Amino acid sequence: MPNPARILLKEETLDPAYLPPRLVRRETELQLLTKRYREALGKGLAYHLLLTGGVGSGKTALAKRLAADLERTGRGSELPVRSAYVNCWRRASDRTVMLDLLRSVDVSLPDRGYSLAEMIDVFEQGLRRRPQHLVVILDEAAALVKQETKLVYLLSRSREVALGSISLLLIAAEDLLPYMDAPSRSSFGVTHRLSLAPYGRDDLVEILKARAELALRPGSVDPETLDQIARIAAPNGDARFALEILAGAAHAAEDAGSDTVLAEHVRRVKGSLLPTLSESQLEDLSTNELSVLLALSRSLKGRGAAVASQRLRAAHSALLEELGGPAMSRTTFWRTLKELERDGLVTLEAAGSGESSKVAMDDLPASYLATLVEERIGRARPRKA
Ligand SMILES: Nc1ncnc2c1ncn2[C@@H]1O[C@H](COP(=O)(O)OP(=O)(O)OP(=O)(O)O)[C@@H](O)[C@H]1O
Ligand SMILES: [Mg+2]
Repeated sequence: MPNPARILLKEETLDPAYLPPRLVRRETELQLLTKRYREALGKGLAYHLLLTGGVGSGKTALAKRLAADLERTGRGSELPVRSAYVNCWRRASDRTVMLDLLRSVDVSLPDRGYSLAEMIDVFEQGLRRRPQHLVVILDEAAALVKQETKLVYLLSRSREVALGSISLLLIAAEDLLPYMDAPSRSSFGVTHRLSLAPYGRDDLVEILKARAELALRPGSVDPETLDQIARIAAPNGDARFALEILAGAAHAAEDAGSDTVLAEHVRRVKGSLLPTLSESQLEDLSTNELSVLLALSRSLKGRGAAVASQRLRAAHSALLEELGGPAMSRTTFWRTLKELERDGLVTLEAAGSGESSKVAMDDLPASYLATLVEERIGRARPRKA
């Protein structure tokens, strides 16, 4: 009998190394680059590009998608297109990068004794043996470029230095032009640079949706849960973080025997990925803040990613009554919510006119927070005579 709680049907498609067939919200960029490469290759020319963008903005995925698409369809003039991907982060020297590039033209040299010039000769022979247009992707290229690389120059002038037909795609978080020598810099003019904007919350929702469709059982994750994850990852626009939370929450849901991924699973995972709320932080909170947090935790427990502020206020009033404390005015309630927001403990979301705004708390499983807050209030409350 199939396990009803199976959620991660194709977990491997959430792995960071997996290249999705479609990059939603990067279609425009992919189209633009495909067009530029095709035009150049069609004329028998090379095309160089510097691709920049923040962490998790999809640089590596976009470059690999582009290279795979060009290999499949983009014959450059008469030449078939092939790509070579090198991550330079740990191999930040021309020689070590060259060793990887040699492998891409099916030559392997032992990692000793050869000068860069000798390696380039062998590389050229390898290229000549099998005529092709090579798209060289140097990922995490900052360290290499900052070390006064000669390779960037050689690869960007492959024709002039009789190295064969090579296009160079450099990837970095920051602009590398200030670190390049003048001749290399001239290869990366305005139409040879693309900077990826950080993903916004909407973009992250679409990305999560597309990746959930690939990896998870249909219907096993609520749109609201995806929106919650997007909200958490949006301040950095980091798709990797968003996908990590999705995978973790799906695991947490399976472990808990739930057949859907719920807000509570996301909170559990986010709490373990980025523990932002500590017990000592709770110690610093006022009784007002604690009681609002407790009402919020209870309203969220097991349900929903956010609660309407009106509902929260009702729940809070009921809680104060239960605890035998004095009622809180509307103004104080709002001020307290604002304080909690300022402390980064809750997120307030303005709603359309007439609607009540939403209050969310993503940091900890609500059940855990409720226990902590109950303890605190229990201790702070004067004993009844
Ligand atoms: N538009 C998208 N659609 C689907 N998945 C995406 C998209 N953009 C990024 N991803 C996924 O998000 C993760 C991070 O993307 P990627 O590794 O390309 O980011 P990056 O900009 O190279 O980050 P870093 O600077 O840390 O290397 C990858 O798993 C990637 O598959
Ligand atoms: Mg990358």
